[in-house]
Amino acid sequence: MQKKNITKYKPFPVVDLPDRQWPSRTIEKAPAWCSVDLRDGNQALAIPMNIKEKLELFQTLVRIGIKEIEVGFPSASDTEFSFTRTLIENDLIPPDVTIQVLVQAREHLIHRTFEAIKGARQAIVHLYNSINPLQRRVTFGLNRDQIKEIAIKGTRLVKELVRKTGGTHIKFQYSPESFSDTELDFSLEVCQAVMEEWEPTEEEPIILNLPATVELATPNVHADQIEWFCRNMKERSKAIISLHTHNDRGCGVAATELSLMAGAQRVEGTLFGNGERTGNLDIVTTALNLYTQGIDPELDFSGLNALRRDYERITGMTVHERHPYAGDLVFTAFSGSHQDAIKKGMDKMDASPGAPWQVPYLPIDPEDIGRTYKAIIRINSQSGKGGVAFIMEREFGLELPKKMHPEFSAVINKIADQGSRELKPEEIKEAFDREYLNLNRPLSLNAYQIQTPPDDHRHITFSAEILYQGEKRNIEGQGNGPISAFVDGLDLAGLKDFHLTDFRQHSITTGSSAEAVAYIEIQKEKDKSFIWGASIDSNIELAGLKALVSACNRAWSTERRDNKDSFPDNNEAVAAVFKL
Ligand code: KIV
Ligand code: ZN
Repeated sequence: MQKKNITKYKPFPVVDLPDRQWPSRTIEKAPAWCSVDLRDGNQALAIPMNIKEKLELFQTLVRIGIKEIEVGFPSASDTEFSFTRTLIENDLIPPDVTIQVLVQAREHLIHRTFEAIKGARQAIVHLYNSINPLQRRVTFGLNRDQIKEIAIKGTRLVKELVRKTGGTHIKFQYSPESFSDTELDFSLEVCQAVMEEWEPTEEEPIILNLPATVELATPNVHADQIEWFCRNMKERSKAIISLHTHNDRGCGVAATELSLMAGAQRVEGTLFGNGERTGNLDIVTTALNLYTQGIDPELDFSGLNALRRDYERITGMTVHERHPYAGDLVFTAFSGSHQDAIKKGMDKMDASPGAPWQVPYLPIDPEDIGRTYKAIIRINSQSGKGGVAFIMEREFGLELPKKMHPEFSAVINKIADQGSRELKPEEIKEAFDREYLNLNRPLSLNAYQIQTPPDDHRHITFSAEILYQGEKRNIEGQGNGPISAFVDGLDLAGLKDFHLTDFRQHSITTGSSAEAVAYIEIQKEKDKSFIWGASIDSNIELAGLKALVSACNRAWSTERRDNKDSFPDNNEAVAAVFKL
């Protein structure tokens, strides 16, 4: 690369259009879409599609609602010719779909193209020639007039052949190839000459497709070029201005959007932006960008995952993980603050159909395009507490008490950090089970009985057989509920060194089986630290009692872990640390 004084490249010249209008306009409706997947997209594949594959992609494009499809360059190869014939002869083109065929402005190729479309209900003949100064000088060695003459002669022949072709409604499209790299006055001169030759009407307008064959400037320059062209052309109402942006600077979508604001009415592009070099305009992104502005794109992407799979299988291309709307990772938040905000946004969403979508960090409801919330949050060591809680609730129906979130999140972050990787929901649940659920050493509950006087339901006697340090013991306590009576029993047996500080429970319904989960928080008398325990059981009362046992056992094991050098692993020490 050159340094400092860069002489090899120059800034792209700006358009002299001080009163440009497009910056204060907005796009208000969908453009006419034309897919060039089967032509521009196909010619950019390492292994071009065969007839069967082209047919499958054609049917896919029809399914999503594309009404104009450039099916190929029939004069360029036998496959392209045969494919066009296959569509026509087998009546595979729906009545509301128009096929488009590309042809260079050369006599024998134009003749062959007309053979290819014989018998079609309707077709667009798309004529093009290169008109930019570089190609005029380097490739053709022709001057402006000679280049213009190629376009006029081509148009004349198309017009003559249309007259001779009965039974097919033929529309005409002309592309001054490399429009974006051509002097604007010359592009206009050529297009105007083509129009004079073709003689379009308002009812039967010509399509003038103005390609950014190679993207060389910022998108505003392309919009200026389009606005300049629209404002300076004669008989504007007799032409449909079409865009065909490539993506060499990565701004193909932006250039198209700004150029729609500048007056274009039609857009050519491909699924996921496949095409020469960095690709063509991505129709999926452009259409969904419109949708997220409240404009019906008139294309159906409600099955985007399936569409992507079909596209990848047929073309052999892959869609990048971060590709807008379609990539694997675009509905995944790794950062904790994003996860928290997404969870809050989802919790507060108005659930009524059609309610405005208002979830931070997600510009579109994934469900609208057939994607799910499932992949929105994945957990790694940077994940926040909200993300972990969200996974527990969404995947397993466990609504962890808010106070428990920081503690469990710390557990998860530690595991993720140790493995330097992202954790799957099942791994998060396993960690929860291991850490909180049904812990039964050194204390476990073997059997219990609850007695409630008939006249006083809030005065409970709890008797139980427990196993403590491998030894069976019988305990009994009183309370206004089973948990408090159990705590009293432990206290009377000299096995309590904590306060009960929180107790929550809720039902979880997974499939046909209904269970309950209970969470209990205790505070250790000794160091005042808080410890959670949990339990899941089909018996809601038992879930609570077992959650208390888990909390006690966790408190003990945490203390032992914290003091592992000072406390030998024997029963006396255990009892001394925590009077259980
Ligand atoms: O990029 C381009 O200029 C083209 C033309 C043939 C329309 O594909
Ligand atoms: Zn192209």
